[in-house]
Amino acid sequence: MLAEIAHIGADPRGGYLRPGYGHEDRELREWFGAHAEARGLEVHRDVNGIVWAWWRPRGSAGPAVVTGSHLDSVPGGGGYDGPLGVASALAAVDLLRERGVTPSRPVALAVFPEEEGSRFGLACLGSRLMAGAVAPERALALKDRDGTTLAEALIRDGLDPRHVGMDRESLDGIGCFVELHVEQGRGLIDLGHPIAVGSSILGHGRWRITVDGQGNHAGTTLMADRRDPMVAAARMVVAIREVARDVPDARATVGRIEPVPGGTNVIASRVSFWLDARHPEDAVTAALVTRIRDSVERIAAEEGCRADVREESLSPTVDFDRSLRAELRAALPGAPELGSGAGHDAGVMAGAIPTGMLFVRNPTGVSHAPEELVEDADAELDAMSG
Ligand code: GLV
Ligand code: MN
Ligand code: MN
Ligand code: MN
Repeated sequence: MLAEIAHIGADPRGGYLRPGYGHEDRELREWFGAHAEARGLEVHRDVNGIVWAWWRPRGSAGPAVVTGSHLDSVPGGGGYDGPLGVASALAAVDLLRERGVTPSRPVALAVFPEEEGSRFGLACLGSRLMAGAVAPERALALKDRDGTTLAEALIRDGLDPRHVGMDRESLDGIGCFVELHVEQGRGLIDLGHPIAVGSSILGHGRWRITVDGQGNHAGTTLMADRRDPMVAAARMVVAIREVARDVPDARATVGRIEPVPGGTNVIASRVSFWLDARHPEDAVTAALVTRIRDSVERIAAEEGCRADVREESLSPTVDFDRSLRAELRAALPGAPELGSGAGHDAGVMAGAIPTGMLFVRNPTGVSHAPEELVEDADAELDAMSG
C-alpha cells in the first residue's frame, strides 16, 4: 500500500515534504479514502479536517475502537512516520474480516492532519483542535512560511474555519484510540524485538527565538562595528547544546533557522530560529528552558543584539492508559513496553480518551530523515497470530 503513495510529496532534497492541509495532503487523503471505500467503510472528513472511515458491523454498539495515524511529514521525512499506522489500520480491517471476526463495537480509522506542525508550527494540530487543546482563534491565525493563515488554508482545502474546534460529539463516540507507529529511535534494535507497546511520551515544547541586530553591508562594515544577529544565533545554538548536555535525559534541538533578509553580502538584521526541547519531567523542561533563556539573553547583550524567547507550545509528559497497555501486552506476548521520545496525536488524544500505542522496529534507528525504515516482516506481525 505504501508503494502506491511513494511518489506523492517527494522532497527534491531527499525524503518527503507533505505539509498539512495542502495538495499533497489531498492526494494522500484521496488514496486513503479510495482504500477505505473499497472496503465498504463509510468515509467522512470532519470539521477539523480529520478523515474518518467507519466500519459498523451489524449488531455492533457502543463507543468505537479507533486506530490510525497521520499522512503529513516533516521536511525531508521518511516514508513510515504516519503512513505506517494508516496502512496498518486498513490492513487490520482486512485481517479481522479474513479471520471472520465481527467486532462487537464499531471500528473507526482516523487520519489526523498536520501532525508534524511542519506547515503551521504547531504539532498535532488536527487532534489538538478536536480535543480542545488549542483555542480555535489562536490556531486560525497561525501562518505558514508563505504567510498563509490556517483560516485561509482551510478555506482553500474546502473546510469552514468557523466550524473548527473541540468536537465533543466525535470524542463521545470513541471508546479508545490505538496508534501504531514506526519506532523513531533505536529502542527496539537494542531490545532485539520487532514490536513494543507504548508506555509514555516525553514532555516537549517549541520556542521561537528572535534575535535583532543591525542589518548592514558585508564589505563596508568593520568587524568591530557589527551587531550581527547571525553570529549571536550561532553562539546561542552552541550554548543550547551545552546547557542540554548538562541535564541528564534532556534533548534540545535547533533545526530551523531563518536569517532576514538572507543575502550573501548582507549582515542580517534579524535571525529567528526554533528551539525544540524535551525531558521526561516537565519541571526539568521548564528549568532547562529558563537556563537557555538566560544564555540567549547574555549572548544577545554581548553581541549588541536583542533577543526574544517566545513559547509556542508545551506538551506535558503523557503516560498511556494502564488497562489498554495491559490488553495490548496480553495480545502481544513478550512485547516490551517502550517510551517515545517523539510526539504523536496519541499524546493529545490521551488527554481526552483511553489511548495506547504500538511501535514497530526501525532497523536504521533513524527517523525524520529519508533513512527511516520498516521491514515487511516486522510490519506484518499481528496480534492474533501471537
Ligand atoms: C513528532 O514527530 C515529533 O516528536 O516532533
Ligand atoms: Mn508520526
Ligand atoms: Mn514525526
Ligand atoms: Mn552594493
